[in-house]
Amino acid sequence: MKYQFPEGFWWGSASSAAQSEGAAVQGGKAKTIWDHWFEIEPNRFHGQVGPAETSTFYQHYRQDIELMKQIGHNSFRTSISWARLMPDGVSVNQEAVDFYNNVIDTMLENGITPFIGLFHFDMPLLWQARGGWESRETVEAYEKYAEICFKLFGDRVACWMTFNEPVVVVEGGYLYDFHYPNKFGFRMAAQVAFNMMLAHSKAVRCYRRLKLAGRIGIVLNLTPSYPRSEHPADLKASFIADLFFNRAFLDPAVKGCYPEELVDLLKQHDQLPVYEADDLATIAEGKVDILGINYYQPRRVKARMTAICPDAPFMPDWFFENYEMPGRKMNPYRGWEIYEKGIYDILINLRDNYGNIDCYISENGMGVENEQRFIADDGQVKDDYRIEFIREHLKWMHQAIQEGAHCRGYHLWTFIDNWSWMNAYKNRYGFISLDLNTQIRTVKKSGEWFADVSRNNGF
Ligand code: GAL
Repeated sequence: MKYQFPEGFWWGSASSAAQSEGAAVQGGKAKTIWDHWFEIEPNRFHGQVGPAETSTFYQHYRQDIELMKQIGHNSFRTSISWARLMPDGVSVNQEAVDFYNNVIDTMLENGITPFIGLFHFDMPLLWQARGGWESRETVEAYEKYAEICFKLFGDRVACWMTFNEPVVVVEGGYLYDFHYPNKFGFRMAAQVAFNMMLAHSKAVRCYRRLKLAGRIGIVLNLTPSYPRSEHPADLKASFIADLFFNRAFLDPAVKGCYPEELVDLLKQHDQLPVYEADDLATIAEGKVDILGINYYQPRRVKARMTAICPDAPFMPDWFFENYEMPGRKMNPYRGWEIYEKGIYDILINLRDNYGNIDCYISENGMGVENEQRFIADDGQVKDDYRIEFIREHLKWMHQAIQEGAHCRGYHLWTFIDNWSWMNAYKNRYGFISLDLNTQIRTVKKSGEWFADVSRNNGF
């Protein structure tokens, strides 16, 4: 065994409610922004496949959890659907409580530690109608929802995650038009970012008051910024990109405060969000026990080569341009660069600049289009490319652990091929392939390989 991992290492995968449970409104679930957006703009979704057709975990969770065990999972993250648990925004849906109790208990019976998220892009439509994360009403509602979840399930959940990738909600919904509500405007985006971290902090504070046995954290997609060169202008571009896309969430989550440079920059451009007197004290209470890191790709940047149009609205892109490094390794289906060492750089940065906080890789993975072309005669997807992708990332993760980083586990995105927002089922990510017509599940070669890795705690 060349790469041996620390004892008790978490091996598993991640999914989310909206992407796996299926059928929009069964079981008393109310609509989310995804159900609504698909109704009004189905063409935005690959193949016009919407969120109702996700991979039927609601019906098949027992079978799925047994499959998780079969492929070596000792842990698994999914999320609770806020719209399912509290369809009218106030009262609790007993069918949802039963469902999540069953999911959690079945995981525990199978030796799988539950990691549960509270918000994974799936804003209930009713809260969006009242302003969503633009509004403090949603912040208060989320705090109540979080408390209800902690009280209902907190006796068995080892690890809670308040948010998944909050920056994606900001980018998608308020800057780059790939999530509902498809609005545009930086100050609003900043408000949404701030309100989410405020909601996060209130949930953390509430969790601590309840004195439950588990831990609480947040999942951030840390996308390290790499400058084109050591030229001061490139370095500055990379520093600022990192402020906007990583540190705007990482600093409050781990250090309990915002980076001064970010605050100064926003102040200078009159883009600061509005906040109340004691908000910053609340943010200071939001420091996490554990950080989940989603890592898919690096961000390569260079200094801007063109001037900003003076009439153009303020954007993070005022301060950098993307840099297409010649010869970079690409995942052509997703259009994302594959840079395995990024995982090491993230972990070393956390070790050196963020108190070596306890963390784990909460998502990493490779989406592949037309994956059925890799099905062999025995009916199995021979996804050697995915095995290689995981292995090369694990090697760098191992290196960082050897050098003292507190990385406690690795979860692949995802367990079973699932619905991926606007991309729907375009790219497949799972250890298990899903036949969309029959809903039949088949373990891929990578799933079998992962079972060995987990059993041996290394490879
Ligand atoms: C992540 C997200 C997941 C999944 C994945 C693959 O950003 O957290 O929900 O969609 O990307 O596209």
